[in-house]
Amino acid sequence: MSSGVHAGGYFQLNTETIGAGHAQKIITNLKAAPTRTLSGQLFGKPADFKICITGHNGTVAAHYKSKLAGGYTQAEASARSLSHFDNFGLRVVFGAASEIILCDAELTLETNIRALVEAFGAVFLANARTAPIKNDVLQKNIFSGLAFHVDRAPTQPNQYSVYTRDPRDPAQKMPRRTSTLFAPRRTIYLQGIADGFDPAKLTGSAKLDLFGDDNMADVLNKVVLEQSWKAPEGTGEIGIIDNRTLMHASYHPGEKDYQIGTRYFF
Ligand SMILES: [Fe+2]
Repeated sequence: MSSGVHAGGYFQLNTETIGAGHAQKIITNLKAAPTRTLSGQLFGKPADFKICITGHNGTVAAHYKSKLAGGYTQAEASARSLSHFDNFGLRVVFGAASEIILCDAELTLETNIRALVEAFGAVFLANARTAPIKNDVLQKNIFSGLAFHVDRAPTQPNQYSVYTRDPRDPAQKMPRRTSTLFAPRRTIYLQGIADGFDPAKLTGSAKLDLFGDDNMADVLNKVVLEQSWKAPEGTGEIGIIDNRTLMHASYHPGEKDYQIGTRYFF
């Protein structure tokens, strides 16, 4: 898929932004200096790039070593092969409100975004809204409690979830009081053991109520990644994940807010 920049009133192709090679450059630069905010371009539009949680694997190991004590070694051995991201989550903030082509007419996720999701597990775009989507199937969702789940069964071919706070939607143009939490499968497994679940039921589970009596302040944006959807009124926000590597939950310590837009891409 191609994208471009507006120059002098013409839509001009920018070869810097075409193909997965562009994302690869962003990934290499971020991994070389993970705590830095990188300034660059995505789809020819100026943007800042920042990893949400650096050193996630080490933080998760330290957290569950302390939480599970003697049970940690066994749990860690069982969880080792499950998906995990040392640099977990990528936040991309566009300098100006940008309309993004996220997929083609067959709802196949754009190549660069796919590469960024593969590298960091979750990608959040701020100051962005989706370009019109052919064959669009938009749903609106919200869940109760800390029900960590996947949106897609393993047999379904469209494993990418795309969440949108669309500034054109009268409810969604306002900041949202409900946030969304994301955790890789390895973290989910270790928390499941901490919550007393049968290990046999953890690896392929589609839904788990986790963090029963835990103080969430101890884990937010350390063990679990929180996407808050709280950019100012009229700001578009988009989140993209792969259901094969992460589970997610709605988080609303106070009252439930509006539903977020949800689409599934191939
Ligand atoms: Fe969901």
